[in-house]
Amino acid sequence: MDDPTPDSVVWLIGAGRGIGRALALHLAREGRTVVGSARNREDLESLAREAEGLSGRILPQPLDVTDRAATAQALEEIEARVGLPDVVVLNAGTHTSMPAARFDPEVFDKLMAVNVGGVVNGLAAVIPRFVKRRRGRITVVGSVAGYVGLPTASAYSASKAAVIAMGQSLRPELEAFGITVQVVNPGFVRTPLTDRNTFAMPFLMEPEAAAARIAKGLRSSRFEITMPRRFTWLMKLLAMLPYPVLFALTRRAIPPEARPEALDADGTDEGGTDRKADAA
Ligand SMILES: NC(=O)c1ccc[n+]([C@@H]2O[C@H](COP(=O)([O-])OP(=O)(O)OC[C@H]3O[C@@H](n4cnc5c(N)ncnc54)[C@H](OP(=O)(O)O)[C@@H]3O)[C@@H](O)[C@H]2O)c1
Repeated sequence: MDDPTPDSVVWLIGAGRGIGRALALHLAREGRTVVGSARNREDLESLAREAEGLSGRILPQPLDVTDRAATAQALEEIEARVGLPDVVVLNAGTHTSMPAARFDPEVFDKLMAVNVGGVVNGLAAVIPRFVKRRRGRITVVGSVAGYVGLPTASAYSASKAAVIAMGQSLRPELEAFGITVQVVNPGFVRTPLTDRNTFAMPFLMEPEAAAARIAKGLRSSRFEITMPRRFTWLMKLLAMLPYPVLFALTRRAIPPEARPEALDADGTDEGGTDRKADAA
């Protein structure tokens, strides 16, 4: 079912860079009013300037979505400025690679605070209002990394699996209130986040192409929006494999910095010295 309201209001959290920025511009080109949130005000202001001359517009609404009260307050301000949004896209997310041998609860907490806590705070602000109005669209951004636990991504994969499960859980209940819940699961998209990756990223997409796919999904009632499809289907197949086969494949994807040799080499793994002695 297509959404025939190109002038609708979209609140996009995580709009300053990467996928969110490209999506904000795409939606503004479609004629929508996009309220863009992120922590960095300059990113949002430059985004709003970039949208000048398009048929829609982008309004900056700076926000740290890990702050629950600030998220609720932001929605109140948005309602006063442009009315209750028709669509909310919870895109803010981050990733820090964490080798298992350097398991760090602070990395875990930080990723969970943004990737899961940010989605929870957005949902907590929006759901009661959409329920009352009996209409709305909530689109959360997960990742194919949420289909299956990937090496060095125990925190990231766990956070994105949580986002996907939240979407699955909310969708059938909220549709009875006229609310469409969707999950976006991208593969690799070239953004400041993935620019940090040192490994080759298969089927890497440009953010504008990902944004076009997401915008198309926002006009439909489908639950999952994925891109690029060939890669996301491969990841779905991976998740269905028996564990011995899955681990044989994911083991090969362990990056050099997460292997015992790397920890031995930088002298941080005292146990490694013992292992060498044992092996000798
Ligand atoms: N790029 C990929 O290959 C890929 C693949 C799968 C899934 N994803 C997911 O797609 C989403 C966007 O990723 P991206 O690659 O475009 O990332 P990005 O380039 O790092 O952009 C992330 C955006 O989120 C905002 N953000 C981060 N923390 C925030 C917070 N606490 N409050 C409000 N805004 C916050 C950032 O702005 P500030 O820092 O200024 O707040 C920025 O505008 C994420 O959820 C990511 O996990 C990306």
